[in-house]
Amino acid sequence: MTSLQNFNVLLGITGGIAAYKTPDLVRKLKAQGANVRVVVTESAKSFVSPLALQAVSGNTVSDNILDPAAEAAMGHIELARWADILLVAPATANFIAKLANGLADDLLSTLCLATNAPIYIAPAMNQQMWFASATVENMQILETRGIGIFGPDQGEQACGEVGPGRMMEPEQLVSELGKVITHPILKGKRITITAGPTREHIDPVRYITNHSSGKMGYALARAAKLMGAEVTLVSGPVNITAPNVDKLHKVVTAEDMLNTVMKDIKDCDIFIGCAAVADYRPTESVDHKIKKSNIELTLTFVRNPDILASVAALKDGPFTVGFAAETQNVSEYAKDKLQRKKLDMIAANDVSQRDIGFNSDDNRLHVFWKSGDIQLDKADKLTLATQLLQLISEHFNDAQN
Ligand code: C5P
Repeated sequence: MTSLQNFNVLLGITGGIAAYKTPDLVRKLKAQGANVRVVVTESAKSFVSPLALQAVSGNTVSDNILDPAAEAAMGHIELARWADILLVAPATANFIAKLANGLADDLLSTLCLATNAPIYIAPAMNQQMWFASATVENMQILETRGIGIFGPDQGEQACGEVGPGRMMEPEQLVSELGKVITHPILKGKRITITAGPTREHIDPVRYITNHSSGKMGYALARAAKLMGAEVTLVSGPVNITAPNVDKLHKVVTAEDMLNTVMKDIKDCDIFIGCAAVADYRPTESVDHKIKKSNIELTLTFVRNPDILASVAALKDGPFTVGFAAETQNVSEYAKDKLQRKKLDMIAANDVSQRDIGFNSDDNRLHVFWKSGDIQLDKADKLTLATQLLQLISEHFNDAQN
């Protein structure tokens, strides 16, 4: 299997001279097994023919956000959802500026805002434009937003100058893309992931919850989709945008989460409990606002159901993976949970560390299973999610054989 097999690559072409190389880029992407759809900007059409791109990609080329025919077939939102990856090559200085500022005044820039897929750009421009402070600052913005950058290459430019600014050659672009793309090793597998906190009502205006941001669970859902899985995401209340999954269930309380998870858990191959489920809920949820009266207020709480342990206890249940967010004795507590909740695997993280854990973009995991363990070094949550899913996939396959 080649590295881009079955990947949906949305190729955006902007108006630089290097656009003349893009039919070759499309051919090379297709030769690696990718499905390719092309979007061109108005100025790109001066450098490359949409007809040639249609012929090599095997799909109609899109160029206009206000195209009723396209909206009836594959409109901009479908196109944004279809993409596993969005590659803009060549990306001109003008396009980079638009992307850095979140403009959406044509189809390609709109797609960049509308897609959940990772975005990669291959800048191409005159070397003076590459070194202009505006471009340098715009590139910094894109980097901090996690947009991947390929090139530019050094060398002789179409304008006769020599320096950085040449678009990376199609062959190298395809090879770089192959390195960042993950293999669809979870194709055909159904994965249910819980994410975020739960919220337990005290009265109609008050609740208790915790600091979970949902970022790790959402990264797992996104990585699992990129690896070809059919993903159900059961999410508590969070402030981040959900990735493009097969089923998204938004829940509030631990009891809602348990009921939703249990509905189709029988069809599920792998369950990952990443949510920070509230361990307790108020004994009674009052249906009117509790008024201030005494100096002290005493609330009593009851234990919430343990969703993860309930799934792990199912006969012929899925491969079950838990998380252990701890502030001390991380390994001991995690190993104890693995055994006590009868899990197949557990990923522990130390949430007392400021640079990882709750609400941060990075994490570090120590993963345990019955007969072993592995440390996954500090990385962004999508990278860690991918590594954890690779590990889960290996152990799931071993358990099947
Ligand atoms: O016991 P503890 O809460 O530390 O265990 C954490 C793991 O258990 C996480 O995977 C979390 O999603 C899961 N859990 C659960 N239901 C609960 C409490 C925790 O699924 N009520």
